[in-house]
Amino acid sequence: MTMISVSAPGKIILVGEHAVVYGQPALAVPVTHVYATATLLPGAAGIWLETAEKRYALDDAPADDVLAKSVRLAMDYCARHYPRQRQTSLFPAFTVTLNSTIPLGSGLGSGAAVCTAIVRAVATYRHANLAPHEVSNLVYETEKMLHGTPSGIDNTVVAYAQPVWFIRGLPPEPLTVRQLCWLLIGDTGIYSPTKDTVADVRAAWSRNQEHYSKLFSAVGGVAREAREILEKTDPNLLPRLGELLDRNHELLREIGVSSPELDNLVHAAREAGALGAKLSGGGRGGNMLALVTAKTAGPVRQALEAAGAKRVLETVVGVTEE
Ligand code: PMV
Repeated sequence: MTMISVSAPGKIILVGEHAVVYGQPALAVPVTHVYATATLLPGAAGIWLETAEKRYALDDAPADDVLAKSVRLAMDYCARHYPRQRQTSLFPAFTVTLNSTIPLGSGLGSGAAVCTAIVRAVATYRHANLAPHEVSNLVYETEKMLHGTPSGIDNTVVAYAQPVWFIRGLPPEPLTVRQLCWLLIGDTGIYSPTKDTVADVRAAWSRNQEHYSKLFSAVGGVAREAREILEKTDPNLLPRLGELLDRNHELLREIGVSSPELDNLVHAAREAGALGAKLSGGGRGGNMLALVTAKTAGPVRQALEAAGAKRVLETVVGVTEE
């Protein structure tokens, strides 16, 4: 067998983070400008993992190693659900090498992308062509290790590699975004593990459930209206979408997951002409996004850089035809 190379995109949450953990809808889209790649090379003996930092045997990996967990999950799953294929290679021997351009702990789904790429590479090695929901379910197990009590939105959007409307506990709805949205993604450069902010929000919610439930419901309302706009083609609706992003940011501030650095970038983007801007993902650091137009993309990028963004990515969401 020859080399197998699989990539999985980064992702960004347009609306609904945190509230999604409590049953509200959220909408996330892939960001293909950044991605993780797993390259599987069949070898002579044993299973090995290789990152930029180290090379180690699967058998020596600690229990909390999500890369090793991804390999094992995919191997076990394929052995159980694709038994005919299992007989083709009873003694697997390969090296999986990981590369990723997705910054860690910044809300761009780096963990989900790396694990998705591994699962797909190992499944391909096992001659199993897994459906997106099968990959997503396996990667959800590693998300639990990384994020504590994740909603499942990251593994879903990365495994489906298309925009998704996500409500915890319901099958994800791949979404056709018809509205062309030009987004700039500004990185505070601050590492902020999602696990921590999710845990803090849970603690705050358990102290004041009534207040937090109202905030989460308000986020849900924003997400529903945003979806309606995204499914239409009328560009006159973009300013309203911008307002909804602004509103979502204010709600996230009240939920307690913004930071001075995020507020600063959001403010800079709006001042430079963005239609709207918000933090994205776990918060307290990581990335924010700004909705721009062809006219404002340049000035907003400059404003973000001047305000201290460590890097600014650009992505366009939406299809012109199906
Ligand atoms: O992985 P991040 O940082 O984009 O955040 C995930 C979104 C949260 O709603 C904060 C957590 C979750 O599991 O949905």
